[in-house]
Amino acid sequence: MAVRKIIIHPNEILRRKAHKVSDFGKDLQTLIEDMVETMRAEPGVGLAAPQVAVSLRVIVVEFGDEEDESIPPKLYVVVNPEIVSSSEEMVKGVEGCLSIPGFAGEVNRSTEIVVRGQNRHGKPIRIKAKGWLARIFQHEIDHLNGILFIDRTEKVWKIEDEEATKIPAAD
Ligand code: CO
Repeated sequence: MAVRKIIIHPNEILRRKAHKVSDFGKDLQTLIEDMVETMRAEPGVGLAAPQVAVSLRVIVVEFGDEEDESIPPKLYVVVNPEIVSSSEEMVKGVEGCLSIPGFAGEVNRSTEIVVRGQNRHGKPIRIKAKGWLARIFQHEIDHLNGILFIDRTEKVWKIEDEEATKIPAAD
C-alpha cells in the first residue's frame, strides 16, 4: 500500500466525468488499498479516485456513528456507485474537501439516500445512508461527475481558526 498524492483544485482531472470500472483485477485492488491509506493518512472521511488523479468511478468512505463514538468507524468501498433514491428532505451542512484545502462551505444535501454499486470484487451492493454518512456519499459521488462542493454552495470561506477546523468535513 502507498499514500498517493491528492490533486488540488483547479486541476482539470477533478472536472472530468470518471469512467465506469469494468476490470476488477490487481490494478483496481491496488488503487483501492492506496485510496484507503491516503484517506487515513490525511485524515479524511472519504476519497474519490479522481482526487488521486485516477479517472475511475471508485470511492472510499470511512465514518463512525454520529451518536455513539464507541462504535468504530465503518469502511465502505464502492465501485461504480449510483444514487438510486434520495430523500426530498434536505439539510444544510458545512463541507470541506481534501482537494480544496483550507476552505469550507455550506451545502444543501438530501438527508437520506440509497446507493447502489459494486464491492471491490464486482459483487452488487446496496447501502442506505442518512445524516453525515449520506452527505459524505453525495460529496464523493459528485467527484465522479466532476462536481465539487464549491459548485453547490453560495458561500465559500477560508478556514482560519482552530474552531472552524473542528467542523465535521465531508472530504
Ligand atoms: Co472532496
